[in-house]
Formats: sequence, C-alpha cells, structure tokens
Amino acid sequence: SGQYDFVVVANRLPVDRVGTAEDGSPQYETSPGGLVTALAPVMTAHRGAWVGWPGAPGEAGEPFDSEGMHLVPVELSHEDVEDYYEGMSNGTLWPLFHDVIVAPEYHRSWWDAYERVNQRFADAAAAQAAQGATVWVQDYQLLLVPARLRALRPDLKIGFFNHIPFPGYEIFSQLPWRSQVVEGVLGADLVGFQRRGDAANFLRACRRLGDASTKGGTISVAGGRTVRAGAFPISIDSRGFEELASAPEVMARAEQIRKELGDPDTVLLGVDRLDYTKGIRHRLTCFSELLADGRLGTESAVLVQVASPSRERVRAYSDLRDEVELTVGRINGDHGTVGFQPVHYLHQSFPREEMAALYLAADVMLVTALRDGMNLVAKEYVAARHDSDGVLVLSEFAGAADELTQAVLINPHDIAGTKAAVLRAVQMPRDERRRRMRALRRRVVEHDVERWAAGFLDALAGHADQPDAG
Ligand code: G6P
Repeated sequence: SGQYDFVVVANRLPVDRVGTAEDGSPQYETSPGGLVTALAPVMTAHRGAWVGWPGAPGEAGEPFDSEGMHLVPVELSHEDVEDYYEGMSNGTLWPLFHDVIVAPEYHRSWWDAYERVNQRFADAAAAQAAQGATVWVQDYQLLLVPARLRALRPDLKIGFFNHIPFPGYEIFSQLPWRSQVVEGVLGADLVGFQRRGDAANFLRACRRLGDASTKGGTISVAGGRTVRAGAFPISIDSRGFEELASAPEVMARAEQIRKELGDPDTVLLGVDRLDYTKGIRHRLTCFSELLADGRLGTESAVLVQVASPSRERVRAYSDLRDEVELTVGRINGDHGTVGFQPVHYLHQSFPREEMAALYLAADVMLVTALRDGMNLVAKEYVAARHDSDGVLVLSEFAGAADELTQAVLINPHDIAGTKAAVLRAVQMPRDERRRRMRALRRRVVEHDVERWAAGFLDALAGHADQPDAG
C-alpha cells in the first residue's frame, strides 16, 4: 500500500498537460472546470493524492507534487481516449445519463476500453492509498472503480460521487452493461448524488438489477455489506468568488464590458461548455423570437454567449457547434445593424476574473439546461453579485433548481413560457430583484463547496446522520 490517507480519483487531474519542456519533462497548467474548482481547496487542506488523466493522449510521466497535492498521472493511449473517453464516457454514458437528449451509442469495443481503463485507475489508486485510507472516486467516467478498488483493497473507505444526473430506470435500463455498472458503483461505502431524485433513481436501479434490497438510503448487497446513497448537492468556493468579483479591477472591467457592448439597456448572459445538454439552441430561439416580436428592442438588448470549447472530437459536439454558429449568424444577420450585433458569441474559455466581470455586467443570467447535474455557473453568478442585483433565469432541469428556488424557474422546452420568463426578468423591479438575489446569496454563501465536501466525507467516515436519501 501507499502513503496517502486521502486519495481522489477523477478522470482529469486538476492540471492539464500543455507540452514538454526542453529537458523532456512534462509541462502542466491548472485546468478549468467545475470538478477541479470544487475539489482543489479540499485537496490542499487534506494534503491528498489525486489520481487522474493529464488530458492529452500518450505518455503520462511520473507522479509529482503541485500546490500541496500529490498528482498521479494515469496514461491513456490514443485508442483509450477514443474508446473510453470520447466513446463510452461521452458517446454513451453522458447522453444516456442526460435523458438521451442525443442518442447514446452502444459499442462493445467502447465498453472493453472502459473496463480496461477503469481497472487502470483502480490499480493506480490502490498503489497510492495508505492502509485504511479514504478514497473518493468522482463521476461517470469511473463507475467501475469502486468495486475494482474494493477487490484490491478491502481495507479502504471508498466514496463515489456522481456529478451528473442519474436517469430513471426506463432510460438507464437501455445500457447493455447496466448490471455491471450498478455492481461497480456498489463497491463504494457511500454513493453521493446531486439531487434526491438522482439518488431515488439509483436506488431503484439497485433493486431492479443488483442482488440488493434497499431501505431508505441504505442498500444491502449480497455478502452482508451495506452501502448508503443520498443527495449531496455540490457548490463553489462562494466567498472566494465573491471576493474576486469585489476587486476594483474586476468591477471596473464590468463597466468597461457594458461600454464595449454599446451601453445597451439590457445585457443577457449565457455561460456554458458548448454541450447539447445546456439548451443553448432553445435560449437562442427565445432571444431571436423576442427580437422578432419587438418585445426586446433592437440595439437595446444584447446577448453575450460564452460557449467554451468541449469534447470537440465527439460528433454530437461538432454538430452542435455548427448549428449554434449558424443560428448566431442568422440572428445577427436578421437583427444587426452596421456597428451593432445582438449576439456576442465567444467560443473561448476565459480566466475567472473575466468571468466575474461578465457576471457583474449581466442584468439577466440565462441557464436553460435541458438536463444538468448541478450547474455551477448559476451559483457563480449569484456569488458574484455582491451588489444584490441581477436576475437568474434557471431551468428546473438543472440540479441547482432544488436550492435556488428564488430564481425565475423555467422549463426550457416551453419556448413561450421561457420567453415570458426572460421578459419578466428584464422588466423585474429593483426591489424584487434585490429580494430574490439576497435569498439566493444566503443559500450559496452558506452552502459552499467546503460544506459539500465536509458533508460527504463526514457521512463516509460515519460521523454524520443518514444522508438525505431519495
Ligand atoms: C462535467 C463533468 C466532469 C467533466 C467536465 C468537463 O462537469 O461532470 O466530469 O470533467 O464536465 O468535461 P471534460 O470531458 O472536458 O472533462
């Protein structure tokens, strides 16, 4: 066994391999993304080890220390990236778990790669973990790791957290390898989900497929072990984000952004990975119809859409990009003037400072996801609004809707309803905006990522009460 008492296992390391130095050693850069943002502070506090993929195919290099963490790169070959990451993870499980917004593909060669790579992650974690250590496995790319790790190291405490939704049984049962997946997850002692509904779906899958019975959030599996499942909604470093948004440079930048946009009456904002789960097309439809109807005036309303590049080699993602870019071009062509564009589309990732400035500059934040585990962008917007202004329009289909009930909640499939909600947000009186934003801020500041991690880890250690089960 290894020497680390706390080990995180995730598909990605908190750093990306960006190149190779002259002496042949790998070069890294802190990688963005919700999961990394969520776990970095916890890792630093625990001085843990983090097992993950450096984000590029080929030779992974040796473990190394960075910012108080021990980072252990797991190597993926080009074939592993194609079949395990782009294939099984993002061509099968991602769409399946997001209620088949696009059709999942089922390929046995992808599954074989998924098993092989999950075993590799389990082996790497087993090598790092000290006797009796706590190992926290993250997300849908690693559903088989808990059971495989337990087989190698029965002495460990194993947690699993599913960052994305867990679908209803009618959808989950499409998966040809559904029993293996349930059995893989049930290798953990504690299984965490974003929403109670996700936990309830998982418990039902256990009853139907696993050799298991459930009582509340406790699952009894063959052999006499018990596994607990419950909801632990993830969050952000709320105070850190609020502080960032309070920096004078960031506030000045927010004002400058509004000027650069031509000082419109209303700035609407969308911030997403360019993913078909985010409902970007629905959002664009609503915006363009509101312009066409004359309910949002030309040159008085602007939509800034940040769509950060994601999974670009997966077909559904490149198709989505084409469609979004066509639609943006059409809206600007139909409603723009010389020197004015209603949609500012940015297919880029920005540093946190620029994101905070954008949030401060936006009168209305549009989160229109068709399905989303949590949606941390919604929480970032709220944390950034230390001025207690701004309106959050939030999809019921994002996990955040369970907590952020003072947002203007929408069903993004209902275009008429969403248009009405956007107008309501645009026209909302200042008193109501403040009242709602203050309530949202209380929630996000109290329930930050530290509390999320502590809640899960306490429950795993057996200190806490029964988690909030479906
Ligand atoms: C979601 C998933 C994460 C994933 C992130 C970025 O938030 O839950 O597991 O890391 O998207 O996607 P990527 O495929 O680039 O890692």
